Amino acid sequence: MLKAEYQQRGPVPQDVIQAIEFEAPELQADEVLLELQASPINPSDVLTLTGLYGILPPLPAIGGNEGVARVVSLGSNVTGLVEGQSVLLPVGLGTWSTHIVAPAKKLIPLPEGADPQQLSMLSINPPTAALMLSEFADLKPGDWVIQNAANSAVGNYLIQLAKLKGLRTINIVRRESLIQPLQDIGADLVLVDGDDLPKRVRKATDKADIKLAIDAVGGAASNRLADCLATQGTLVNYGMMSGEAAQVSSANLIFKDITVKGFWLALWFQHASNEAQQKLYNELAMLIATGKLSAPIDKVFKVADIKEAVAYAAQGERNGKVLVTA
Ligand SMILES: NC(=O)c1ccc[n+]([C@@H]2O[C@H](COP(=O)([O-])OP(=O)(O)OC[C@H]3O[C@@H](n4cnc5c(N)ncnc54)[C@H](OP(=O)(O)O)[C@@H]3O)[C@@H](O)[C@H]2O)c1
Repeated sequence: MLKAEYQQRGPVPQDVIQAIEFEAPELQADEVLLELQASPINPSDVLTLTGLYGILPPLPAIGGNEGVARVVSLGSNVTGLVEGQSVLLPVGLGTWSTHIVAPAKKLIPLPEGADPQQLSMLSINPPTAALMLSEFADLKPGDWVIQNAANSAVGNYLIQLAKLKGLRTINIVRRESLIQPLQDIGADLVLVDGDDLPKRVRKATDKADIKLAIDAVGGAASNRLADCLATQGTLVNYGMMSGEAAQVSSANLIFKDITVKGFWLALWFQHASNEAQQKLYNELAMLIATGKLSAPIDKVFKVADIKEAVAYAAQGERNGKVLVTA
């Protein structure tokens, strides 16, 4: 058995983490031994290794925050689960481990036959995309939403969820090769970022009033989205991929009365009712299980190769998510 452990944080994420041998602790009556099927490496995992994320686990820690695993054996009191079954892991467990011991009551059984790799990405990015579409603007079918880092997993989910709601998306990317793949999943407009972005957006949308801009990048890219917004539009900053502070010009704040907000799923969990959380997750799980919602996967690495996996995930211009498996 191997786990990807880090004893310190540092600027080069792959330098601080390594796969080390461990022996599974003896199962308690209410616990389950699981074998990892898939767990993504998200930007938040990389930021956790570098020490820049909003919440940091005590050290030493095991990397990874979400995923899907198969039941290997059950504690003597566990009911409702069977060996071989796939379950969703609770968020924050430390998932980059070939084997995981978890309390049975925290495991969510997954539908038979659903793709475990796609479901391993359910807990964080799909609800983020869904909530940013529903919580910040009163959008009607036909309205436009603009987002950058549109080829990210969140970006892919947002395009598909917007389509299901009848919304139209303007998707900003960093390279032309992404235009076709994003159009294939339902993007209405895909544009490569650049200084003249607002002009190109106005032309392509026939000067549409854009009420919502969704920003994963920060820095000057935030203001390019704000420049595209209608008067009293809202810019939601939810990521810091550029590593720079989100910038919005005084002209956008004063003359267009733009609202700038942040979004962090972790805070939403703190105030959303259990009922609201369950409803959202049930809907998203169903969409993923039926193939209506997905994100591209670039590469799958073994826990044993965690350094390579983290280095690959931390670099830009990937063709999808990096997953870790046993
Ligand atoms: N606030 C929240 O609650 C919350 C929840 C989930 C995710 N997030 C954030 O959402 C963002 C997307 O997450 P994800 O898992 O969907 O990402 P992902 O699939 O790993 O994709 C990363 C994206 O970032 C882009 N990117 C990387 N470096 C960049 C740079 N310097 N400038 C501009 N774009 C850059 C990539 O574009 P290229 O392909 O061109 O490199 C790609 O589109 C991340 O910032 C993540 O932390 C936030």
